Amino acid sequence: ISTTTTSMIEAHTYLAKYYHHLLLNTEEGKEALQYLLDRGFTLEAIEKFGIGYSLERWDAVTNILQRRGYSLSLMEEAGLVIRREQDGNYFDRFRNRIMFPIHNLQGKVVAFSGRSLGEDTPKYLNSPETTIFTKGRILYNYHQSRAHMRKKQRAILLEGYADVIAAYKAGYEETIATMGTALTEEQAKTIRRTVDQVIISFDGDAAGISAAFKAANMLIQVGCEVKIAQLPEGLDPDDYVKKYGAEKFRTAIIEASLSFMAFKLYYLRQGKNLQDESVRMKYIHDVLQEVAKLNKPIEIEHYINTLSKDFSISVEALQAELSNIHRQTK
Ligand code: CTP
Ligand code: MN
Ligand code: MN
Ligand code: MN
Ligand code: MN
Repeated sequence: ISTTTTSMIEAHTYLAKYYHHLLLNTEEGKEALQYLLDRGFTLEAIEKFGIGYSLERWDAVTNILQRRGYSLSLMEEAGLVIRREQDGNYFDRFRNRIMFPIHNLQGKVVAFSGRSLGEDTPKYLNSPETTIFTKGRILYNYHQSRAHMRKKQRAILLEGYADVIAAYKAGYEETIATMGTALTEEQAKTIRRTVDQVIISFDGDAAGISAAFKAANMLIQVGCEVKIAQLPEGLDPDDYVKKYGAEKFRTAIIEASLSFMAFKLYYLRQGKNLQDESVRMKYIHDVLQEVAKLNKPIEIEHYINTLSKDFSISVEALQAELSNIHRQTK
């Protein structure tokens, strides 16, 4: 590990404490703290996840880093300050934001994500990719959840910071988050090395559902067993816990999560009028296309039998159709 890497991580570690202190102990941090408390973040969760606040100033962090002897050009490389083109002066990247420290897999602070207190855009301002931070390699909260994942023998995969914190309030510590981007193969392999089973609980919107499909396929590819939780339309896990409470989140969402196949069948059915014969035929064909991807004879038979019963079609006809699909996809 080079001295520049060490120095970048040291600066992040120091600033995480500084931001955390500003949030909890200062007049300037009061509004941000109130915002978090109003959202249902507990003081305990704020501690556990090291949440902080960055001042509404252009030079607070710049001055501190300089005073502590860090080279500002190195701090720019670390993504903590920005160099202004016109005069070459440096200014703080994060201003007036709720600060979420992001740790690498080993538990060192290597980046920040700063949330605006209101509707300002971007909602989250992130550290850029640097020599110490590659978003696609890190999973939010992995360092704290690893032991819990091992013990529970499963991981709960979420989209965002607030979801991890809401799940924590609901008693789940085996949680990790993608931070809103597509799950990479490297992240999937990291999860696979830790657990066999993953419950994906992404946002209940089109983006979340499509991301859940992709993440599930990636995880299956590396050998995980995947289940998918279904959130009501428009709600994410954090919204859900706030609206319906921790107990309902546990029983109706996480512990009621579906197998990937059941999830696919449910979504293939969405908004379709199966009374209509052509819609029904298309649906049966779509389901068979999914069945064709299965490897286990017992599972294949189960879905064929279910379709046969649900739609009064002979098992033979369904099997013939399945053979057609197999021939076409070869
Ligand atoms: N994200 C990001 N930059 C953005 C928006 C989102 O990095 N401009 C990441 C964050 O990690 C965020 C995750 O994607 O937590 C999921 O995004 P979204 O669902 O939009 O945000 P929430 O986590 O629901 O945030 P909040 O509850 O604070 O609105
Ligand atoms: Mn503390
Ligand atoms: Mn989302
Ligand atoms: Mn969300
Ligand atoms: Mn949210």
